[in-house]
Amino acid sequence: MSIETVQLTRVYGSTRAVDGVDLSLSDELRVLALIGPSGGGKSTFLRLIGGLEPPTSGSVRIDGEELPVSEEGLLAFRKKNGFLFQSFNLFPHMDARENIVLPLVEVHSWERAEATRRAEEVAERFGLVEHLGKLPHQLSGGQQQRIALARAMAHEPELLLLDEPTSALDPEMKAEVLDLIGDLCQEGQRIVLSTHEMGFAREASDHIGFLSDGRLIESGPASSLFDAPETEQVRGFLNKVMKW
Ligand SMILES: Nc1ncnc2c1ncn2[C@@H]1O[C@H](COP(=O)(O)OP(=O)(O)OP(=O)(O)O)[C@@H](O)[C@H]1O
Ligand SMILES: [Mg+2]
Repeated sequence: MSIETVQLTRVYGSTRAVDGVDLSLSDELRVLALIGPSGGGKSTFLRLIGGLEPPTSGSVRIDGEELPVSEEGLLAFRKKNGFLFQSFNLFPHMDARENIVLPLVEVHSWERAEATRRAEEVAERFGLVEHLGKLPHQLSGGQQQRIALARAMAHEPELLLLDEPTSALDPEMKAEVLDLIGDLCQEGQRIVLSTHEMGFAREASDHIGFLSDGRLIESGPASSLFDAPETEQVRGFLNKVMKW
């Protein structure tokens, strides 16, 4: 996919959460990872790219097409994407199956029978069949996040947006979710994600963007950004987070 942002900006009150980001990534891009300090603008950037909210100013083009700014246009664009957030966001009163089925029926207008078949198919693939009848509170964090990932994937999104998909998980569960995301990357799923897992970012992505104070401080292929950061700021950040 190609992603191009021109002076992309999102302001909340007096905070410039994303501040004049220019990024131009060509067609070969499959996986873009956003890293950087807390509050740097990663989640906001993901929401803008995914069409969850319009920018205050500037623009986004994906595959050459400019993202709409009207609420109606954004809604249609959003449906083509899949989203996964840090904290599972499953419907607490519905079992895992229904958590996958309902958006297919309500948002994507699938027939219920077809949606149920699809839920079972993705559950099979993600090793979740035995959990389909359970409510979220009966599942471990890793299982919940895998259900949320199955839900985000069920309609075969053009672009999958993952916002710190593993930061709420214990190390072991982190590994199982990262493995699954790694498989999706390998299969060519187009993904934009934010993460604090540097090893994973390096392994799984084609391109890394470092955001701090809403600004894109550096951006480049994983190998060059990690091995030869150009700025003192990125070097300092990597030294700090890779120490352990
Ligand atoms: N809806 C909002 N209303 C007001 N301020 C916001 C909103 N969303 C984000 N911000 C502010 O914008 C800045 C960027 O936040 P953002 O959540 O994008 O950072 P982040 O890089 O995802 O941080 P983290 O690594 O902690 O998730 C922060 O200062 C945050 O407080
Ligand atoms: Mg965030």
